[in-house]
Amino acid sequence: MTITKSAWYLAAALLVFAPVGARVLTWPSGQPAEVDAGQAQAGEVLFHHEWQPNDPLTQGGDGLGPVFNARSCVACHHQGGPGGGGSVEHNVLTFVVRPSVPDQPPRQGVIHTFAAAPQYQETLAHVDPSLPSLTASQLQSTRGNRRAMPTVPPGISLTQRNTPALFGLGLIDALPDRVIIAQERQQRVQHGMVSGKGDALPVGRAPRLADGQVGKFGWKGQVPTLADFVQAACANELGLGNPGQAQPVPLGQPNYRPVGLDLTLEQCNQMTAFVASLPRPVERPPATPALQAKAAAGKALFTKIGCADCHTPNLGSIEGIYSDMLLHRMGSDLSGDGPTYYTPPPQVVKSAPSTAPLPDEWRTPPLWGVADSAPYLHDGRAKTLHEAITMHGGQGARVAQRYAQLRPEEQGQLVEFLQTLRAP
Ligand code: HEC
Ligand code: HEC
Repeated sequence: MTITKSAWYLAAALLVFAPVGARVLTWPSGQPAEVDAGQAQAGEVLFHHEWQPNDPLTQGGDGLGPVFNARSCVACHHQGGPGGGGSVEHNVLTFVVRPSVPDQPPRQGVIHTFAAAPQYQETLAHVDPSLPSLTASQLQSTRGNRRAMPTVPPGISLTQRNTPALFGLGLIDALPDRVIIAQERQQRVQHGMVSGKGDALPVGRAPRLADGQVGKFGWKGQVPTLADFVQAACANELGLGNPGQAQPVPLGQPNYRPVGLDLTLEQCNQMTAFVASLPRPVERPPATPALQAKAAAGKALFTKIGCADCHTPNLGSIEGIYSDMLLHRMGSDLSGDGPTYYTPPPQVVKSAPSTAPLPDEWRTPPLWGVADSAPYLHDGRAKTLHEAITMHGGQGARVAQRYAQLRPEEQGQLVEFLQTLRAP
């Protein structure tokens, strides 16, 4: 009798709570889609690991280097916790040399900051003999001192890339390409635009790669999946060659050959799992009611003056991302050449030459977590949010102008709203 009774209670409880349970399970929790916890834990160790030349964790390769930008992932990605953004000291220096003969592909790559041995150290002179033998960190220290900056001959461009935060990237990885393509179409329709016309309008384009995939990662949307980017980062930043991406050969030692691969695909997958497991950024209201009202007014202004045209608050099922994931032309002041960070091996996708990003095209960075990822813009030139906004040119120029015309207290409201977008 008691058994039947408790069975009844159980059945009743199930009936009452099952719909709630189902709703909770399908809630847009903001957590990235299932990641294997064991994989992610192993990846966390690798993400924090300080690599050495001939590192014991490498599987038969030369370990760190011979050229590298830091000794660990977390050395650059750390603001607001492991996986966050990084300061300008950790910027990555990229170069593009356009050949004088037309129809030849440009030579491009990274000038690595460090080397495992002095003979491997890369300098600007390796890019072109007319440039001084400055290393990336020496160039970095001339920042802000125009007279100390070397003159770069025409056809060559040097661009810095600032470290973005990796929070919530599991959600972006899971975002279907069609959502981004639909966003592109919607902007065209909204602004009544024939493609290729009206460069001042906030009408972006999806970063299309040669094989038809849409690029979702990198400042230029140059990489289609998180796994691809992690493999590229292992090779380009730490000099850890892996099945997806060969390690870079020192610019001055083109005959350097690694003894073998440094990482297995399994190790790369573990790091990808760790990055995918990082929680998404949060929208955290300020402490006092007065500041809450200020931020709410700023949020309304954000939409009213047109920031939300590109920094779309919701995209597909991702709420609060504040990005359309499209490339926009941002004006000549924000020029920076080439999707050079990622040089895929031939068997891997790359941008179709006709659709490769233009120097002044950048993917709208998601603004979630922006309060914890200073400095801003692709090379970290903006120290504050206010500066980042005022530096918008090209398709963002009109909105930047509207921002400039706001009263100082309204500008303060808008920035207060951005300050609510925090690392998890
Ligand atoms: C020297 C600093 C530095 C190190 C070390 C570094 N990164 Fe990065 N990371 C960057 C920069 C700079 C970018 C932006 C590159 C670009 O878009 O061209 C980036 C971008 C990324 C992205 C794409 C983010 C996005 O939203 O588009 C991922 C994923 C990533 N890094 C993972 C890693 C992993 C994993 C490691 C370790 C293997 C690592 N990074 C090591 C500086 C670094
Ligand atoms: C035409 C599209 C567009 C509009 C409109 C626009 N932005 Fe942006 N925003 C971008 C792009 C693209 C970048 C990256 C540019 C770069 O790195 O050189 C960016 C960068 C930023 C950044 C720096 C983010 C980071 O992580 O470095 C902030 C902050 C920002 N925008 C805020 C705003 C605000 C506030 C407004 C409205 C006043 C606005 N944006 C309007 C496209 C736009």
